[in-house]
Amino acid sequence: MGHLCDSGLMVTGIMLSKVLGEWWHRGDGPAHRQLADRVQVLVLDGRLPLRTRLPAERELATTLGLSRGTVTTAYDALRESGFIASKRGAGSWVELPARPRQVTPSWSLTPYGGSVADTFIDMAHAAPGAPTGDLYPAVQAAVARLPEFLPAHGYYGNGIEMLRGAIADRYTRRGLPTRADQIMVCAGAQHGISLVLAAFVAAGDRIVVEHPAYPAIFDAIRQVSCRAVPVALTALGWDLDLVEATVAQTAPRLAYFIPDFHNPTGLCMDAEQRIRLARLAHRRQTLLLIDESMVELGLEHPAPPPVGAGLPLSVQENLVHLGSTSKTFWGGLRVGWIRGQSELLHRLAVVRAGTDLASPVLEQLITVELLEQADDILPRRNKELADRRDQLTALVRERFPGWSVPHPPGGLNLWIDLAAPVSSMLALTAGRYGLQLAAGPRFGVDGAFETRLRLPYTLNAEDTVTAVDRLAAAASGMGGATAPSVAPATGLV
Ligand SMILES: Cc1ncc(COP(=O)(O)O)c(C=O)c1O
Repeated sequence: MGHLCDSGLMVTGIMLSKVLGEWWHRGDGPAHRQLADRVQVLVLDGRLPLRTRLPAERELATTLGLSRGTVTTAYDALRESGFIASKRGAGSWVELPARPRQVTPSWSLTPYGGSVADTFIDMAHAAPGAPTGDLYPAVQAAVARLPEFLPAHGYYGNGIEMLRGAIADRYTRRGLPTRADQIMVCAGAQHGISLVLAAFVAAGDRIVVEHPAYPAIFDAIRQVSCRAVPVALTALGWDLDLVEATVAQTAPRLAYFIPDFHNPTGLCMDAEQRIRLARLAHRRQTLLLIDESMVELGLEHPAPPPVGAGLPLSVQENLVHLGSTSKTFWGGLRVGWIRGQSELLHRLAVVRAGTDLASPVLEQLITVELLEQADDILPRRNKELADRRDQLTALVRERFPGWSVPHPPGGLNLWIDLAAPVSSMLALTAGRYGLQLAAGPRFGVDGAFETRLRLPYTLNAEDTVTAVDRLAAAASGMGGATAPSVAPATGLV
């Protein structure tokens, strides 16, 4: 499960055993070490939120069918490495070590800087580097435009008109007529998600999400004390009958979908399903949050028109679209946007006023420049991404003959079937070989996807080769009956 309890404060033995999965003890080595290792993975990848209280040793021992001594030894090891803290009378709770020992580096999204960046290869996050050849001129052009903004105070609550207009035009061109006043610029799609949740859901509400899904949606849902209601997304794509039945049964306040080159599967929802989804949300009065972060990353074909295109305005009232420059241009810009009907944006503006007042003007101007060049930049970017996808696919297929590697039509990731429930152990082991991975269960709830691994194809060719070598070394180093079998590199790929 991505998250143990809505409050994030306490986990019972049964809940922890569920999130540990039935597979945690099938590796090599003594049970206490495997238990400690596994809890450590759960902390590092966010499935055990910080300060979650762990079950008492006796309770956990009973639930897992272990001796009390085994759990005590595991807790001692976690305490020793800084992953849990304890206080007499208050029990033990999850912490991050001030200075991680053995486990390096941190799981944070920030560049590690200095020696860590030199040493570690990050395959835990899926975002490409900036197109420097396009970014530098855009920055220069933006700086040249800046003086016209300097005499005013600089607080453009919904974003500068120039950028909102450019974003609206792109929607209109994609088949969803949009005015500038239907756009709010924000600090990336994740900011957009948190604003929408803050404005439109209340504690205890249910939120339908695809399963698997972009992991930080689960974090965001937990933060507002709502409940994620997962709807399976299979290799065949979306099952709208299932979505409809789930919505009918659970009456969610909101449903979150990534229809364009979905993270992590890369799947793209077809035009007919988009229409059905929008109509369903309208009928059920469910707010539909459409995350279009990946929409420009069609590697085989462009995405169909946006959800809501071609439908009456009344149907569009329930729709909120999120966009971002992070995957197309650069995550470091921190520019994204929310598209919705004006009243809806008004409500968002009220909520936003309590947290941040506006987005930086210079970054917005850079985005205007980049959007003006988008039709030139994006095909080049996508060609490079497709080459990287093909290289990574070939390398993984060569080294891991037992894995199933799909051929996604777009997006940034391979959602690999490992054929055995080893993802968390592999991620943990890979850390010791200088490779950061996001284990499959990070993309779901209730410990699902232990047989899956998301590998982003965002690294350059050289790093990709090194990363797959490290992955192979980690898999070989895992030991145990379920360790993936690794073939030698031929050097031909
Ligand atoms: C589907 C999806 N939504 C949102 C985000 C967050 O993007 P941003 O950098 O725009 O906040 C990501 C980043 O990985 C993503 O994959």
